[in-house]
Amino acid sequence: DWDSGSIIDEQVQRIREQVGTDRVICGLSGGVDSAVAAALVHKAVGDQLVCIFVDHGLLRQDEREQVEQDYVASTGVRLVTVDAREQFLTALAGVTDPETKRKIIGREFIRSFEQAERDLVAEAAADGEPIRWLVQGTLYPDVVESGGGTGTANIKSHHNVGGLPDDLQFQLIEPLRALFKDEVRAIGRELGLPEVIVGRQPFPGPGLGIRIIGEVTEDRLDTLRRADAIARAELTAAGLDGDIWQCPVVLLADVRSVGVQGDGRTYGHPIVLRPVSSEDAMTADWTRLPYDVLAKISNRITNEVEEVNRVVLDVTSKPPGTIEWE
Ligand code: XMP
Repeated sequence: DWDSGSIIDEQVQRIREQVGTDRVICGLSGGVDSAVAAALVHKAVGDQLVCIFVDHGLLRQDEREQVEQDYVASTGVRLVTVDAREQFLTALAGVTDPETKRKIIGREFIRSFEQAERDLVAEAAADGEPIRWLVQGTLYPDVVESGGGTGTANIKSHHNVGGLPDDLQFQLIEPLRALFKDEVRAIGRELGLPEVIVGRQPFPGPGLGIRIIGEVTEDRLDTLRRADAIARAELTAAGLDGDIWQCPVVLLADVRSVGVQGDGRTYGHPIVLRPVSSEDAMTADWTRLPYDVLAKISNRITNEVEEVNRVVLDVTSKPPGTIEWE
């Protein structure tokens, strides 16, 4: 019989035995897996653990605060935030090709993570306490997937915090390796993590960077972030979070259409809503959201986000569409 309490006890015991008095590093993405993995390790070894969070500027509204404030308050972990927003914007300037964007974001992510890692390793070495361990939030499906070619999963070059380069300097701690997502969520709740993190739907490592179709700029990120926050708030308010797998909100930044607002003609951008239902993201269907919820989201976005004058719904299953637009 599955019991999150006893899994926590077992893992804590195991991590303590493995790590001893060594120091440990963990990258946080803002997502469920790394948050729960780090919380388990923190429960086991306390301040021997330091977490690194890279703010690449492609996060959604409030995500950085949720990690820096809510997560830290509920766990007490030591956190280092790397503010890499300028670095990513500069690297992405002028780039529109989806795969090029993904590669740049992945490369810059590793670069900023490794810089923070080197600083911590140097600091620890100066204290005579080498860092020997790296925590990763690998789940059972990740283990299975990387063992066998699973077709559509590899169409895009994926990037996430679990996808850091093989760092021979460290040994890995992967406390979630035998678990599925719902089990990880249960453990996170048992550990008292914030619901905004534990209940979070999948969000890609490259973040909003692959939800702006066209060049990524600060203004466009701001537009998309506001539209996304409205869509998420309304889906939550309507009690629909449990019915959808995720709902990418996409800004067609290179498309404009004519609209009318008040007495004026507008020439703004469309926002796409992409609500999907899925078991594992390998296949998906578009979610039949209630019309009144769609209407509310559309009204609010076009009223509150002035750059947007049209909201459209993506009614494509996967295949042939992927969940993300890039
Ligand atoms: P697609 O667009 O391929 O997405 O149908 C399938 C699932 O994967 C997520 N996704 C990513 N997750 N790093 C991630 O951690 C990535 O680079 C990435 N790209 C897509 C996507 O949100 C969906 O859940």
